[in-house]
Amino acid sequence: MTPDGTGGPDGTGGSSDSSGNLDRFYDRLTSLAYGGDYNPEQWGPDVHAEDVELMRAAGVNLVTLGIFGWATTEPTPGAYDFTWLDAHLDRLAAAGVAACLATMTASPPPWLARLHPETLPVLADGTRLHPGSRQHWCPSSPVFRSHAVRLTERLATRYADHPALALWHIGNEYGCHISRHCHCEVSTAAFRTWLRERYQTLDALNDAWSTTFWSQRYSTWEEIHTPRAAPSFRNPAQQADFLRFSSDELLACYLAEKAVLARVTPHTPVTTNFVPVAKTLDLFRWAPHLDVVSYDSYPDPHDPDAAQRTAFSYDVMRGLKAGPWLLLEQAPSAVNWRAHNGRKPPGRMRLDSWQAVAHGADAVLFFQWRQSRGGAEKFHSAMVPHAGPETRTFREVTELGAELAAHADLLRSRPERADAALLLDWPNWWALETDAHPSEVDYLEGALAHHKALYDASVACDVVPVDGDLAAYRLLLVPHLYSLSLDTAARLTDYVRGGGTLVVSYFSGITDEHDRVHLGGYPGPLREVLGLTVEEFDPRPDGAWAEEIRLEGAEQVLAYDEGGPAVTRHEYGRGTAWYLGLRPDPKTMRELLDRVRAEAGVSPVEAGLPEGVQVRTRVTAAGERVRLRLDHRDGSVTAERDQASRQ
Ligand code: GLA
Repeated sequence: MTPDGTGGPDGTGGSSDSSGNLDRFYDRLTSLAYGGDYNPEQWGPDVHAEDVELMRAAGVNLVTLGIFGWATTEPTPGAYDFTWLDAHLDRLAAAGVAACLATMTASPPPWLARLHPETLPVLADGTRLHPGSRQHWCPSSPVFRSHAVRLTERLATRYADHPALALWHIGNEYGCHISRHCHCEVSTAAFRTWLRERYQTLDALNDAWSTTFWSQRYSTWEEIHTPRAAPSFRNPAQQADFLRFSSDELLACYLAEKAVLARVTPHTPVTTNFVPVAKTLDLFRWAPHLDVVSYDSYPDPHDPDAAQRTAFSYDVMRGLKAGPWLLLEQAPSAVNWRAHNGRKPPGRMRLDSWQAVAHGADAVLFFQWRQSRGGAEKFHSAMVPHAGPETRTFREVTELGAELAAHADLLRSRPERADAALLLDWPNWWALETDAHPSEVDYLEGALAHHKALYDASVACDVVPVDGDLAAYRLLLVPHLYSLSLDTAARLTDYVRGGGTLVVSYFSGITDEHDRVHLGGYPGPLREVLGLTVEEFDPRPDGAWAEEIRLEGAEQVLAYDEGGPAVTRHEYGRGTAWYLGLRPDPKTMRELLDRVRAEAGVSPVEAGLPEGVQVRTRVTAAGERVRLRLDHRDGSVTAERDQASRQ
């Protein structure tokens, strides 16, 4: 399904790529964007007056406004009340605070479900979800979409020229709560339409889905359903297609609203905030349609690996699109949605914020400005806590605001480029994590384990898609690329032939894009470049991966405990291809990748950094290098300027 007027046949609205024109956004800022979700509809006039004073004290220059404002703005169908929003936008403009204005479509008012219960999403087991929470809408529902578009049009028309408006915020965290996707009749029909566009003929679909297996051959399109609850393993190609369809359907919702904004306010950039790197959305398919990528980061303060996991997410965001990205949400202290919600210790919020800047963010925003008095998130921290401004949190918020403002030239500065990259691919994620495989392989954990070996060595790492500019990197890490097209295999082979260093880890090159095995031995079209064949998988009862590798030109670097090659190295063309037939423990992984990158000529950002200290450099418009040093051991952050390169 494609939204009105924007769609290409692939459901991504091919003609609506965003140029990334951020002038209107930058025109309203004199330093990095700083602020948070502002939900003034939860409060009265006395609080509103104080909000502006406190924002000024905290150095806030941007707030996201109206994300959950639909029911306030359209309390009954078609009866709009913008007076509340007029007042807030005017007040913000007068105070010099810019607005990232939401289209308000994340949470429809209860009347939509009352009048149109078919807009509610349905789980694989047939359970229909109900209002009373948020994001209770079916991504394929034309009724939901038309109401969302109608509201967007009213907002865009009303506020196109408002002086506070800097950026549009479409929806909110697409796919966060309905990540299990919708299986209602409307979605089923939309899935069939999507499949017809993809395969054209039923024969092609039957072939792609291997439906001769288990007597699944379809004789009409009407027999095809979304992968609903079933007695045993569901068709893996069908599951992967459903995930692709679901990502596209949510994108079509986004694009339907974006088309309105592009028509009515063509010079105001648009964004939407992505959730922590997850399987739900193919972000490489989404990113071209955002003027700027935005990300919500919620590391667990109790997680010892939080800094590296966060660095990985930030690297993904930076890799989605050229230009900056925005940290649109993070918690000032505790969240409320884990089993145990530890606070961020003193200094941690500052450290997390600077880490985002170090990885390329041009905004540091929080959820949310003022801690709610009621509702499901009243125990989630905020910039202004329940206890008010005389608190540690607000003091730290204020200090950070002043500090960011003091580094005004970081706005529009860019991180220095990396020599190493990690390849990430959502369709692969969807195919890799289906049922009935030799053992479970967690794609995200695999990617994180590879990234960690670089992160711990202070090596900067970009994240690239399968069709990215591979030749720009000396070293390319390819974790678990189970689903591999012949095109991508040829690109990886060419990369090595041309002098690149490739590291491929196990359960790669197994199937084509329809989950059909590449015959002749694993890893199919990568056998030649890797110089080996995998004959059999042999995962261990503890989940550790192992396999039987036959060397065909590669040399053994490490063996399994019981013998046989486990890690190999193959010189091919002008480059080198490594293969990991197991997941080494973190120490071995680090030693291995230290050797690999030394051979590839990939250096740390800075030599001799102690473990736990991260350095990243941004280059200002004036050509000055700002070296951000983040000490994750004691929480300290320093910004040093490279006098030598000052222009
Ligand atoms: C997400 C949402 C916010 C809020 C926060 C709480 O990021 O976008 O509305 O619920 O989580 O952590």
